[in-house]
Amino acid sequence: MTTTVAVVGSTGSIGTQTLEVVAARPERYRVTVLAAGSKLDELVAQAETVRPDVVALADQSRLDELRDRLPAGVEVVGGPSALADVATIADVTVNGVVGFAGLPVTLACLGAGRRLALANKESLIAAGPVVQRARTTQGAELLPVDSEHAAIHQCLRSSGRDRSVHRLQLTASGGPFRGWTAAQLEAVTVEAALEHPTWSMGPKITVDSSTLMNKGLEVIEANELFGRPAGSLGYGIDIDDIEVVVHPQSIVHSMVTFDDGSTIAQLSHPDMRLPIAYCLAHPDRSDVAYGRIDWTELGRLDFEPPDRASFPCLDLAYEAGRVGGTAPAWLSAANEVAVAGFLEGRISWSAIAGVIEAAMGHHDGAPADSLDAVLDGDARARAHAEEALC
Ligand SMILES: NC(=O)c1ccc[n+]([C@@H]2O[C@H](COP(=O)([O-])OP(=O)(O)OC[C@H]3O[C@@H](n4cnc5c(N)ncnc54)[C@H](OP(=O)(O)O)[C@@H]3O)[C@@H](O)[C@H]2O)c1
Repeated sequence: MTTTVAVVGSTGSIGTQTLEVVAARPERYRVTVLAAGSKLDELVAQAETVRPDVVALADQSRLDELRDRLPAGVEVVGGPSALADVATIADVTVNGVVGFAGLPVTLACLGAGRRLALANKESLIAAGPVVQRARTTQGAELLPVDSEHAAIHQCLRSSGRDRSVHRLQLTASGGPFRGWTAAQLEAVTVEAALEHPTWSMGPKITVDSSTLMNKGLEVIEANELFGRPAGSLGYGIDIDDIEVVVHPQSIVHSMVTFDDGSTIAQLSHPDMRLPIAYCLAHPDRSDVAYGRIDWTELGRLDFEPPDRASFPCLDLAYEAGRVGGTAPAWLSAANEVAVAGFLEGRISWSAIAGVIEAAMGHHDGAPADSLDAVLDGDARARAHAEEALC
């Protein structure tokens, strides 16, 4: 039977790799929805190749042009709610939107009782409690695309119904500035921050990887996905049971250590198509291999603790995760503003953490008990971060 796939954020790094995974198994998957923010030329080219039923564009100003250029018979949807509207149609929706803009997609897909392959970590981080509620909708299923969380998902699955998890270990490449001195970090350029040593990704997550904020966000994400009270969704661990280990080769994607001392890890060469294919094929495994290791050539695997003094974003994220409520929403929003400020040349790389910390200083302790509370927290954090940019 063919599985229908909605690729939301299709013009991005996750989106284009999802299209590659689908193209490798045309008899198994069919892309019925393509959706993107603003890149019209790329979206039209994708639609000509894939021939979806529906194409959605968030940028409403170019809808007429999109309609004119699409193959006949393709439905066009546009405007602010378009991406969420099309996230309820297919068997699986891949959410590859970047940033807080991905939240409505996550909520719509889960709320419709569909399978969500979630790359957009920001939605789970900013609105954890709201997403958790949507996750309990009958038929809803959330599978993590993020390679670390897909790895943990696989490690936990291998232990069956056993819930005796001691700790989770998230691996981090350490980014391009691992081992740099404070003076070197002061002089980081945008170009240097956009060069990731092991992964090729969109600009925001690449900068997040260079500051270790990406890993901090992933700790909060892992806590939301696996850390809740032991039961059908959780393993009864808390945020301080989630460790970050620097592993420069990015071969071990993450690990789970059990109460009996055993550690189970998932390994492959870095290739996001593997976790994407895992989410699409679940509960089966993909029969196309991505990142397969030749063990006779692998060489060494190194591990070391993260440098928390030079990369303070990691501890800012742990702190927001411990506080909970809307603190992760504030952190994620302030980080988006700070990273945009860095990419626009308004602040230095070293100033990113300070902007986030300044915004977090205004956090009011509000709970994240509704979407409105999250939206309010997001807006207020952005305003404070903008202030700190000046
Ligand atoms: N790339 C990776 O390897 C990787 C790995 C793990 C997790 N992730 C996560 O996956 C998500 C996507 O990352 P990425 O690297 O693929 O990002 P990306 O290359 O920058 O692509 C982002 C996608 O989101 C769309 N978009 C951006 N702003 C939007 C808005 N306001 N409304 C609607 N759509 C919008 C873009 O559309 P247009 O380009 O058409 O404007 C594009 O299709 C992020 O949350 C990231 O943290 C990525």
